[in-house]
Amino acid sequence: MTSPPFPIEPARDDADRAACARMMCETDPWITLGRSYDRCLVAVSDPGRELHVARAKAGEVAGFILITMKGQFPGYIASVCVAATARGSGLGTQLVAFAERRIHRESPNVFLCVSSFNHRARALYERLGYQYIGSLKDYIVPGHDELLYRKTIGPWNSFTPTT
Ligand SMILES: CC(C)(COP(=O)(O)OP(=O)(O)OC[C@H]1O[C@@H](n2cnc3c(N)ncnc32)[C@H](O)[C@@H]1OP(=O)(O)O)[C@@H](O)C(=O)NCCC(=O)NCCS
Repeated sequence: MTSPPFPIEPARDDADRAACARMMCETDPWITLGRSYDRCLVAVSDPGRELHVARAKAGEVAGFILITMKGQFPGYIASVCVAATARGSGLGTQLVAFAERRIHRESPNVFLCVSSFNHRARALYERLGYQYIGSLKDYIVPGHDELLYRKTIGPWNSFTPTT
């Protein structure tokens, strides 16, 4: 089933950030990774990152994507999450496509990490054209690796930013 596109916009306020942190800490992979509500709130409130939320009809947050545009590898999707009740309808795909358009204004590369136990998310990223780069062993918790993926539209030397 494909739902109509949800509007995606920058998070507006603390209520949006709290909704994202709640959504994160109540689901895997963050449960297994030991991320409490407070740590999730710190992550989504980082002023060095961009938090974009997808809104359902009543205005509540149906999903979000957190992006980093700074550092040696700009264009990193730090987190993407869809409310448990809204999964499987295309919103995750829509959020990733939104992030790719945003990142490609400044960089030809989109990076992300996915936990080794998150098989369905890995399947989604591979379907969307992400290439597995390598494994960061026991990166967050012992026994589980973080898998680095990249999707590129070409080398830096032939890339022209649009901002
Ligand atoms: C991964 C996630 C963002 C995908 O969002 P979504 O709206 O369900 O994605 P779409 O509807 O566009 O695509 C569905 C595909 O997502 C993948 N997927 C991953 N986890 C899923 C879940 N819990 N429920 C449904 N689909 C999931 C599957 O590949 C699925 O394809 P399938 O129907 O063939 O199994 C969402 O499932 C989620 O928030 N999961 C929990 C948090 C998470 O794992 N985030 C990624 C961290 S790297």
